[in-house]
Amino acid sequence: MAGKRTFTMIKPDAVAAGNIGNILAMINKKGFKIVAMKYTHLTKDQAGQFYAVHKKRPFYRELVKFMSSGPIVAAILEKDNAVEDFRKLIGATNPKEAKKGTIRAKYASNVGENAVHGSDSDENAEIEGDFHFARTEIFK
Ligand code: RTP
Ligand code: MG
Repeated sequence: MAGKRTFTMIKPDAVAAGNIGNILAMINKKGFKIVAMKYTHLTKDQAGQFYAVHKKRPFYRELVKFMSSGPIVAAILEKDNAVEDFRKLIGATNPKEAKKGTIRAKYASNVGENAVHGSDSDENAEIEGDFHFARTEIFK
């Protein structure tokens, strides 16, 4: 059965552009409940660790630099079928390919600076949530 939780970050580009509120409103409107949230700034080490699966990819260095370039909002979201439904809400990695009405179609600048992160599996949602939050910071 599909899980109930996913993990997201509002990335530095969207925070800098003043879109935290707009993005959270879209998330709430789709029926996701925020069960954990923090405003934080990743170090280069933390960003590198978080995206370690992409270590061998040509964009890794750029990605780590970008994700540590300014504050982000990290959150755990709850809803039935959370991972899949959230990926639908954020749209394709490249905003040029993202469907109309998705968060990336609205707020992403390009394939690298693309406004939001969304977990790609239930397993990664749990790992990523654990990366950012202690048990005592998650509310049901
Ligand atoms: P995310 O993990 O952040 O939700 O993004 P995603 O699943 O849609 O895409 P993924 O393949 O996991 O890539 C992670 C992030 O790396 C940056 N990227 N840059 N320059 C490029 O070609 C490129 N490709 C990916 C993006 O910030 C992407 O979201
Ligand atoms: Mg990904």
